[in-house]
Amino acid sequence: MDGGPIVAATRGPAIGAGDNRGMTQDELKALVGQAAIAYVQPGSIVGVGTGSTVNHFIEALAKMPVRVAGAVSSSVQSTERLKKHGIPVLEANDVTSLGVYVDGADEIDGGGHMIKGGGAALTREKIVADLAEKFVCIADESKKVDVLGRFPLPVEVIQMAVAQVMRRFEVMGGQPVVRPGVLTDNGHPIVDVRGLSITDPVALECEINQWPGVVCVGIFARHRADVCLLGTSSGVQTLAYDKA
Ligand code: 5RP
Repeated sequence: MDGGPIVAATRGPAIGAGDNRGMTQDELKALVGQAAIAYVQPGSIVGVGTGSTVNHFIEALAKMPVRVAGAVSSSVQSTERLKKHGIPVLEANDVTSLGVYVDGADEIDGGGHMIKGGGAALTREKIVADLAEKFVCIADESKKVDVLGRFPLPVEVIQMAVAQVMRRFEVMGGQPVVRPGVLTDNGHPIVDVRGLSITDPVALECEINQWPGVVCVGIFARHRADVCLLGTSSGVQTLAYDKA
């Protein structure tokens, strides 16, 4: 996948439209988790993200009349859940490509660029997204923003580089903190950065990727969503992001 210019975001008709005003955030997450099944080919290998929205997607995968042949998972947490449902989990190294990767987001902007990593799984999420032809983002409407950055930007960093990476963010005007008590599945700390207004997500992702010790930054701009299924009070909105 590349980060070419966006031509347009198109909005499809609302699926499950109706009066969903009383729905909780978790019910909206369940709605989009189920809707994502429309993008999954029975018998295929699917890429599976991490988080509470994806947990609903995994439940829906388990209920498919003809199931997937297997999944490539982005976290220990999702792997355990998939296995509990008897869905075989394959190693990313044993797969050359995936038709689709389904994952949540902490924020998504009008171009399909995302902040991810609230669940500390960003590195493996980006690896699985890189294998996929299509990234389907599933999110409730609270995740939709005009400009990324209100949600603190997660960055996975090798321990000995943490102080230097934090200084670099301070120079940029950010307020970095080490996420307390958290190590990723890869054994590294997460630095969360508040106070950034990410108006050029591709450029910022590329810049932070160059800093020594950064394992992965939670800007998904070069691996942005192709489609977002957004759970709203009027049903599931399908937002498609055309690429030039
Ligand atoms: C995990 C992620 C999640 O996709 C993101 O945090 C959204 O989570 P949820 O679906 O629980 O709101 O990036 O690293």
